[in-house]
Amino acid sequence: MRPRILTGDRPTGKLHLGHYVGSLQNRVALQNRYDQYIMIADVQALTDHFNAPQQIKKHILEVAKDYLSVGIDPHKTTLLIQSHIPEIAELTIYYLNLVTIGRLGRNPTVKSEIQQKGFKDEIPAGFFCYPVNQAADITIFQAEWIPVGADQLPMIEQTNEIVRRFNRIYQVDFLKECQAILSATPRLVGIDGKSKATKTLGNAIYLSDSPETIKQKVFQMYTDPNHLKVSDPGSIEGNVVFTYLDAFHTDKEAVASLKKDYQRGGLGDVTIKNILNDTLQHWLAPMRAQRETLQEKMVWEILHEGTQSARKLAQKTMQHVREVVGV
Ligand code: TRP
Repeated sequence: MRPRILTGDRPTGKLHLGHYVGSLQNRVALQNRYDQYIMIADVQALTDHFNAPQQIKKHILEVAKDYLSVGIDPHKTTLLIQSHIPEIAELTIYYLNLVTIGRLGRNPTVKSEIQQKGFKDEIPAGFFCYPVNQAADITIFQAEWIPVGADQLPMIEQTNEIVRRFNRIYQVDFLKECQAILSATPRLVGIDGKSKATKTLGNAIYLSDSPETIKQKVFQMYTDPNHLKVSDPGSIEGNVVFTYLDAFHTDKEAVASLKKDYQRGGLGDVTIKNILNDTLQHWLAPMRAQRETLQEKMVWEILHEGTQSARKLAQKTMQHVREVVGV
């Protein structure tokens, strides 16, 4: 048996190039070596989008199409919808007894999200407790490895605390601690060059963008504001076009020589933007073609099958849990 890994995304929007660089490309590779589970975490998404259920529902399908179009293979990866495994919600309730409010308040990822979202004194309890729900996600499938970005490390730590507490209190050992497989790639910057690419900031290129939209976004990219004439020397520091060329152009030598020419002077922004546009178009074209073959009915079937098989595993874990917690 290959070791089991689990990852997930909140379906709050379509996936973009930042997701590709940060996690999707890893997952496409990891599915060949691991028994991979990818969860569409709609219940977690509702913890801060409870007033936008239609948005979440719509994006379950979009995110699934994103996975399938970049090469997630349903024969190798189990795709599942969190809300269709009610055992996760049940396990969350038992785990909540093992965590203090003080400990939840110290989770740095949740802390910074609370700030970002401006909850102040009105933090929804469901949101505050979502790391416990995530601990249930991970442990109900007995996943050993969790491929994630650094922002998710506090969730892994909290999961393992719960596992140790559960095993100690109930004198069992069937819950297993998990370990992160940390993604080495830094978060991709947005086209504005100001911060990482996100849906909220509107500075991301989506995997499902049309060729025209991609070109438009490439031509909006932040470059070097002091590079006024083609003949001027340009800077590649913080120049988004070069960041994306580094991430997506396959010929590293060609990119290195473009950088030299740009820094020396004589290479214009229009030229490098055209090169990047060609690179992205060429790379995204087969994914777009793959997406066009995906009929809705087929995608729902894949999700249904994946969820059914994942649920069997969850039910097994829950049987043990119910016995030891005494229900
Ligand atoms: N919290 C993760 C995110 O915001 C999504 C997620 C939900 C997850 N459940 C998970 C990630 C389980 C890894 C394992 O991206």
